[in-house]
Amino acid sequence: IGKMIHYQETVESTQKIAHQLANEGVQEGTLVVAEEQISGKGRLMRSWHSPKYSGIWMSLILRPKIPVHEAPQLTLLAAVAVAQAIEDTTALKPQIKWPNDILVNRKKVVGILTEMQAESDRIHSVIIGIGMNINQQLEDFPEELQEKASSLLIESGETISRSTVIQRALYRLEKLYDLYLKEGFKPIKDLWESYAISLGQVIRASTVNDTIVGKALGITDAGVLLLEDDKGKVHSVYSADIEIQ
Ligand code: BTN
Repeated sequence: IGKMIHYQETVESTQKIAHQLANEGVQEGTLVVAEEQISGKGRLMRSWHSPKYSGIWMSLILRPKIPVHEAPQLTLLAAVAVAQAIEDTTALKPQIKWPNDILVNRKKVVGILTEMQAESDRIHSVIIGIGMNINQQLEDFPEELQEKASSLLIESGETISRSTVIQRALYRLEKLYDLYLKEGFKPIKDLWESYAISLGQVIRASTVNDTIVGKALGITDAGVLLLEDDKGKVHSVYSADIEIQ
């Protein structure tokens, strides 16, 4: 992972470039990194604030031979790898909010966006986009984000080397990806649960059509979140915005 790195100062979105490169057939493990994104993409059609030099904006191309419905497992794998890289670099205690936000002191420092190209049930490529807030000061964030978002600098009080974090994240990603290809999702799931912030708590999951409030029981072997409502009914949540009650 990261043997081929495609670096550009300014891009619209590293996701877009990764999709193009994936279509051109570049090797698995190719990474796209930029200093700045003009129109960074977040989950659920949101934008992602990606100012110059202060964060890590990167997209990784993987080509796993797994069925399409197992692709969300890779998102959870990426979240664990990035949490480990934060622990390798700082004294902070990262936590993961399902599926893949990484929080430090309850504020979001990392977002992950996974997109897939597939034909029928064959995965062509999985693009894992990782946005890490590293050296921003609070006033660098748009006002509406200041309450919920943070950076490693704000939380640790130290300026952090972005290249060191990238190196450690790639190292951790490669280790976990090898483990995943050898032993399947189970060991990744156990690690993910050890970082999970909301298991056992009552949370509100909002999807486009629906809101479910329930106790987070855990994730399934496919990476789907299970919520138990107050009538005891268990709901499977595939994609949603989570608020801890
Ligand atoms: C989220 O909504 O939490 C996910 C944010 C993902 C942002 C990253 S930054 C690198 C990559 N390129 C993008 O345009 N988005 C992802």
